[in-house]
Amino acid sequence: MSIIDIHDKKFSLSIPETDIQESVKRVADQINQDLIDKDPLFICVLNGAFMFAGDLMKQINIPCEITFVKLSSYEGLYTTGKVKEVIGLNENIVGRNIVVVEDIVDTGVTMEKIIASLTAKGAKEIKIATFLQKPDALQRDITIDYVAMKIPNDFIVGYGLDYNGYGRNLKDIYTVVQE
Ligand code: IMP
Ligand code: MG
Repeated sequence: MSIIDIHDKKFSLSIPETDIQESVKRVADQINQDLIDKDPLFICVLNGAFMFAGDLMKQINIPCEITFVKLSSYEGLYTTGKVKEVIGLNENIVGRNIVVVEDIVDTGVTMEKIIASLTAKGAKEIKIATFLQKPDALQRDITIDYVAMKIPNDFIVGYGLDYNGYGRNLKDIYTVVQE
């Protein structure tokens, strides 16, 4: 099926599973080479990165740990904008080599917050592994070390990414059909 409906929108198949798996394998091979003696702690950012992290970690064959965090989103008492904070990290990351595992870097605002938070907690080195990146949307000066796939600035679902909660279970990526 190449066209699907989610809520009020139509999405068409844009990246098939085989291409996804190939690109994830490529990233894993690179990480295996780069971090072989670094004892990395992978930090999977829920919910979106759960599927990428699952497939990626099956291809990682160096000693490592994996843990999971979420981002809180609330109105700060004395700030106007939304303040996001990394929650759920129980590990001591002082002096650790971290790999942040994300679903997508869009504007980069979220990733900038994650990097700031992990730096404040004493991480030694922070590498970023994202499944997708929208290069044309990037607004922050961040270094993304590993990108499985670069995509145009269109809204997509599947492989962990959602449209209002739905579509995360899809094994392929679908792009919104403009009307
Ligand atoms: P950023 O802070 O602008 O980089 O946005 C990152 C977050 O926006 C991701 O973690 C996703 O949750 C969400 N996001 C950005 N683009 C898409 C998309 O095309 N589909 C679904 N979620 C998206
Ligand atoms: Mg995300």
